[in-house]
Amino acid sequence: MTAPVAIFEPIPDHGRHLFFELGTAGDLRATLKRLAAECDGQSVVLGLGEPVAQTLNISIPGLRPFPQLPQAKPPIPATQHALWLWLRGDEPGTLLLRGHALEALVSPALVLKQAIVSFRHQDYRDLTGYEDGTENPEGAAAAEAASAMGQGPGLDGSSYAAVQQWLHDFGRFDAMTPPEQNDCFGRDRVSNEELDAAPASAHVKRTAQEDFEPEAFVVRRSMPWVAGADAGLMFLAFGKSFDAFEAQLRRMTGHDDGVTDALFRFTRPLTGGYYWCPPIEGGMVDLTALA
Ligand code: HEM
Repeated sequence: MTAPVAIFEPIPDHGRHLFFELGTAGDLRATLKRLAAECDGQSVVLGLGEPVAQTLNISIPGLRPFPQLPQAKPPIPATQHALWLWLRGDEPGTLLLRGHALEALVSPALVLKQAIVSFRHQDYRDLTGYEDGTENPEGAAAAEAASAMGQGPGLDGSSYAAVQQWLHDFGRFDAMTPPEQNDCFGRDRVSNEELDAAPASAHVKRTAQEDFEPEAFVVRRSMPWVAGADAGLMFLAFGKSFDAFEAQLRRMTGHDDGVTDALFRFTRPLTGGYYWCPPIEGGMVDLTALA
């Protein structure tokens, strides 16, 4: 059993995020079995939300809904769905049609609620121009950060994905001077150097992975998204549990020391969900844990 390969690969040129809710008819277990055969962990990554575990009356260690954070500043929406698919490829039309086929395959047990088109921008940059993913762990460290181990068959190699759609306010971002923009991130946009003198609110100071106890490493595979005149970042982080992401999010929203992440000056999340990605066996999703 291995973890979905997509976790360890650079983001593709194009992506499509599909979010499903439980339908009112159909056999969910049989549907997931059919779907599992179509998800190889590379061209399609499958994530199950807590509503699926609840409906099937099974327990996946650590699987829980996206947290409600009433103290968060600013507010963080929780929009947990039953199932998430991340389609990856090099051509958006192909991904659209693949998505249609998968939607038909899971109907009526699962119903599509949201589809988000995402893409790679330049050399792995956010639409603000800042390089994203620099501090991702690599190789064995990535596997250690992003996949469960020592938990037994059906669980080992699985991963816990946090997914949030962030909407950028480009007017606000453009109104800042370049030094102010750099201070939001704590990195220099051109050189990508970390800025030691950046304020405590700087994003990379809020989220510095080795500064948490325990250390909070994740593998981020975020991609820009666009829909009409709106655009931003589809944030995606894989962990061996949801804990590292949640610790980072709490620090970004002032829970640890009252300081709020400077990113909120120009961007905010619209959605938030937690999804458990089963391991891959023989080129398809292994649903042993659902048995
Ligand atoms: C619109 C939203 C966001 C944008 C544009 C953004 C962008 C960035 C950029 C440009 C970096 C610096 C380069 C790098 O190491 O990747 C970074 C680092 C990082 N971000 Fe974000 N990010 C966003 C949201 C989040 C969220 C919601 C989390 C987690 C809750 C997060 C966690 C991290 C972590 C862990 C690092 C690396 C910190 C370190 O160890 O140095 N980011 N992000």
